[in-house]
Amino acid sequence: MAEQPLFEQIANDIYSQGYSVREAALPASLASALAEQVRSLPDDSFSRAGIGRQQDHLKTEQVRRDEICWIDDSTSAGADWLEWTGELQNYINRRLFLGLFSFESHFAHYRAGDFYKTHLDAFRGQQNRVLTVVTYLNPDWQREYGGDLVIYPEQGDAPLMHVPPAMGTLVVFLSEEFPHEVLPADRDRYSIAGWYRINSSAGSSVDPES
Ligand code: OGA
Ligand code: MN
Repeated sequence: MAEQPLFEQIANDIYSQGYSVREAALPASLASALAEQVRSLPDDSFSRAGIGRQQDHLKTEQVRRDEICWIDDSTSAGADWLEWTGELQNYINRRLFLGLFSFESHFAHYRAGDFYKTHLDAFRGQQNRVLTVVTYLNPDWQREYGGDLVIYPEQGDAPLMHVPPAMGTLVVFLSEEFPHEVLPADRDRYSIAGWYRINSSAGSSVDPES
């Protein structure tokens, strides 16, 4: 498999530190197909993102301002993305025995000034989102535009890393362990956020819509 060295690096990073940040990791042709698709989507295919079961829109707006569109395999870029993330899933399951079972992901569009305040993607014991994958669809992104993803340790305020949302950068981390936030940029910022879940059909709760 062509991606084997990359997937091995990601698995090693997750094993040793729980997170992985790899630049230019997404295959270039896949990144540009996705970048093209997200910009060609009609405005009404995006909707304001929520925060879990939170229905209070005013409160949500204090936390996150991005708009999202879920990805399926009805376009070739979407299908290729799901195939690629499926290969990563298989690789990580073989190497780390995480038992990743399903994957869901959305495009996110942050307009100038939009942000997503510090949050966790999953809560301990809730057993839904196990591993987060984020990638960026912004060609020629410059550091001074802002829009960094800031990753924090489980405890403490000193960031582990600032990640500019540069085309093809891939970020993977354990969803329950790393608080993170998206800083505002001075222009449009496009990303994909996705989550691998373990099979939690034994639980009775309805999955959060975010
Ligand atoms: C998310 C998220 C990060 C990013 O959607 O949960 O943290 O950089 N996104 O877009
Ligand atoms: Mn997140």
